[in-house]
Amino acid sequence: MNQNELKQQVAKKAVEYVLNNVAKDQIIGVGTGSTADLFIDELAKVKSHIKGTIASSERTKARLESHGIAVFDVNDVVSVPVYVDGADEIDPEGNMIKGGGAAHTREKICASIADEFVCIADASKEVAILGAFPLPIEVVPLSREAVARQMRELGGNPIWRMNADGSPLITDNACHILDVHGLHITEPLALEIQLTIIPGVLTVGIFAQNAADVALIAAADGVNVVNF
Ligand code: A5P
Repeated sequence: MNQNELKQQVAKKAVEYVLNNVAKDQIIGVGTGSTADLFIDELAKVKSHIKGTIASSERTKARLESHGIAVFDVNDVVSVPVYVDGADEIDPEGNMIKGGGAAHTREKICASIADEFVCIADASKEVAILGAFPLPIEVVPLSREAVARQMRELGGNPIWRMNADGSPLITDNACHILDVHGLHITEPLALEIQLTIIPGVLTVGIFAQNAADVALIAAADGVNVVNF
């Protein structure tokens, strides 16, 4: 089974999870990325079960709306029963690195108002310790070099993320991304807090404060359900 087939499998399982665990006519949170895209396409098949969604990016909002699924402004929603999203890495405690798709600020906001974070991933995302995947940090453009210097002091190697055409990547929040290579994240929550207070940092891609509550992990022999 290739990686795309695994993602398909976990997307289907996530829709089953929503049908079994979320009462009818609720608003649910939807993440961003290739796995989340497949989840959206599966969710569309049972869209009458939900009232609508909150979206973690403009990309996700557009895909949901293309399926005729209502997207609510997060400001108008107090809480959601579940937030379903992928991850770039997930450790044995449910801590994650996210932001490979540059959407982690809105992802963290959506996750913060969710009763339950359901992580959907293929088994290649499971790691013992976070950090082999470069840590995305969304920064206010003016602060980029100052934040990069602090990352170097911590032993990281920050790389300013560019688009394929060589222009700087601009996020949905009009900010830049630094991808910090070479970190070995043994204390995810402590590092998330430490980096979050650096002036100019909008959001760090460590999800420890908002770690996964449940992970649906697709492997060749099926989807494993992990409760943290
Ligand atoms: C988006 O910014 C990310 O946090 C994604 O959720 C993460 O990169 C997982 O993406 P894939 O499902 O495409 O691997």
